[in-house]
Amino acid sequence: MASKIRESLLSSLSAHQETYVSGQQLAEETGCSRTAIWKHIEELRNEGFTIESKKKRGYRLLKTNDQLTENNLLLGMETKALGRTIVVMDSVDSTQKIAHTLAQDKAPEGTLVIAEEQRAGRGRMARVWHSPKGTGIWMSLLLRPSLPPQKAPQFTLITAVAVVQAIWDVCQLDVEIKWPNDLLLNNKKITGILTELQADSEQIHSLIIGIGMNVNQEKKDFPEELLSIATSLSIEKGEKISRSELVQRVMYHLERYYQIYLEKGFTPIKLLWESYAVSIGKYITARTLNGELTGVALGITDDGVLLLEDEKGTVHSIYSADIEI
Ligand code: BTN
Repeated sequence: MASKIRESLLSSLSAHQETYVSGQQLAEETGCSRTAIWKHIEELRNEGFTIESKKKRGYRLLKTNDQLTENNLLLGMETKALGRTIVVMDSVDSTQKIAHTLAQDKAPEGTLVIAEEQRAGRGRMARVWHSPKGTGIWMSLLLRPSLPPQKAPQFTLITAVAVVQAIWDVCQLDVEIKWPNDLLLNNKKITGILTELQADSEQIHSLIIGIGMNVNQEKKDFPEELLSIATSLSIEKGEKISRSELVQRVMYHLERYYQIYLEKGFTPIKLLWESYAVSIGKYITARTLNGELTGVALGITDDGVLLLEDEKGTVHSIYSADIEI
């Protein structure tokens, strides 16, 4: 857990980014002694923040960093609940696993688990999610909506919309959605979403939304077999991208759409989702566990189920599949 003092110290310093703030003022604003301020400043420097100090003038924040530390993520987090409790880890099997445990331990709604590296990142349909160190965003968010479990797939779609908008905010890149959970840039995968839940037959207890974003990988960071189907934001944009800003924007949009969803239902989000979707209106092949279906993707239902019309005019409801366009 980040120290509350360091969090408020950072917001005081960033509110006066151009000017020095005296130790006395910081002590008053944070409610601790000047010696304590000095110690917390040292801690922040160790976390990678560049803070200048000058005799008789005080402290000045020169540069924030892009390390995925709790303080760095909280500074600039514009949400009320989502991403307000953050667990940052260096190397884990899977952030999904950690989030499931935290969910059972009564962690609050909005808890975000984020790791620099996953050794056994999980994808959909029991696939492996390649999560090399320090390059991408590997995170799992805990929500506790009072809803029946059938509603869970909608959260994959809500998250997809939030991520598309976050990527636009930070990188001005136009991402498309391929049902149900692939985000594509120039036809290659940029983000995957995995929604898992703890529930009984009537009610969701916790929903774990796993988001894997390929951000700063270079081509050499992808295994050979992924190079033709996956890419990173920095490869496509040609520059390094701030991971902390992306996390903050994803949380911001997700909180907004979660609220809209709870107040107005799925329809407004469905419309947005369809406007970003590549497959709708196209002739597609859906590979399900029960075989292959081809036809035109008509759209999605209010439950997030894909509707596919085959050549005979029969409309099929697809709950889970890989789509080829
Ligand atoms: C997919 O496209 O198949 C979904 C990929 C989801 C990957 C993310 S990375 C963070 C979280 N932890 C995991 O082990 N998986 C999800």
